[in-house]
Amino acid sequence: MTARAQSTIVRQPYGTTTAGVAVDMFTMTNANGMEVKIITYGGIITAIRVPDRYGNMANVALGFNSLHDYEAKNPYFGCIVGRFANRIANATFTLDGKTYTLAPNEGPNTLHGGNVGFDKRVWEASETPSDAGVALRLHYLSPDGEEGYPGNLDVTVVYTLTDSNALRIDYAAATDAPTVLNLTNHSYFNLAGEGMGAIFDHILMIDADRYTPVDATLIPTGELAPVAGTPFDFRVPKAIGPGQRSNHPQVVVARGYDQNFVLNRPDPHDDLLMLAARVYEPGFGRVMEVWTTEPGIQFYAGNFLDATLVGASGHIYRQSDGFCLETQRFPDAPNQPGFPSAVLRPGERYATATVFKFATD
Ligand code: BGC
Repeated sequence: MTARAQSTIVRQPYGTTTAGVAVDMFTMTNANGMEVKIITYGGIITAIRVPDRYGNMANVALGFNSLHDYEAKNPYFGCIVGRFANRIANATFTLDGKTYTLAPNEGPNTLHGGNVGFDKRVWEASETPSDAGVALRLHYLSPDGEEGYPGNLDVTVVYTLTDSNALRIDYAAATDAPTVLNLTNHSYFNLAGEGMGAIFDHILMIDADRYTPVDATLIPTGELAPVAGTPFDFRVPKAIGPGQRSNHPQVVVARGYDQNFVLNRPDPHDDLLMLAARVYEPGFGRVMEVWTTEPGIQFYAGNFLDATLVGASGHIYRQSDGFCLETQRFPDAPNQPGFPSAVLRPGERYATATVFKFATD
């Protein structure tokens, strides 16, 4: 009988930020040899190595190979996004009659938490015991008023790598004043392998009957539009390529896929972990499923990758060389009364989970 390999988690120094803060890298390996690398800067997943149908391993997460690149020019590769993933219109919202002004960092709007979001913070990190696999606990205390958001916010993100090749992310937070919160992970995937070119042939399923159309600045109009008869209909799995080059006005405005899908859930506020999306890459046979407790998922097909970044394996990243499936509350939820709430109040516990399950077919 062959002894089964043990899962491990190893910490090593990764570098020092320009502000002089030490950053570490954690390498988590499971019993099958699947490997996930996470750095304490931004809680960034820098690599996910999974087998293809022949058992060959490749890194399926886009990223860089230096802290300098992550600090200087990261388009949110692999990071934890907060306090508010996606956009808030005109960088402002009103809660309990009080108006808050945020940092506009994309035209008039705020994107992904503002100028210095959670993706640019150095998180406290420690290995944490888990029955499910090897686990890394990241912790960050976001002070009242940071980037304009109210409340001292205590945030914990736990990454768990299981022996069934799942990477689970648990987000938890508590606040001492009413606030809004929308945490996600912004990994870009290419199931053929990072740096292997465009993801047009990937076959995608998203379990959503509706999506949230956007205006010219990519803020939702408030409508929940049916996907039926549009490039956004991924209820039956189909290749990404044709829709990514479609002339549908919503594709044109975003230069490709960059929309929030309304996941089919019995109740948008329940906390059931449900299958939201499945991606299959036919060439190497890798499959990734996304399970989440969240009501929405942003499918973004790397539209703004413009050949100015060189990735970890030394290849230039061009448009559509990776895709993101960002589980989330809906964009601009703080200004959209018709959307599921993104409000967190003192005494409440924010707790969401997303699982990326890898397999082959
Ligand atoms: C957004 C894109 C944005 C990208 C930044 C995505 O979540 O939807 O519009 O360009 O993040 O990398």
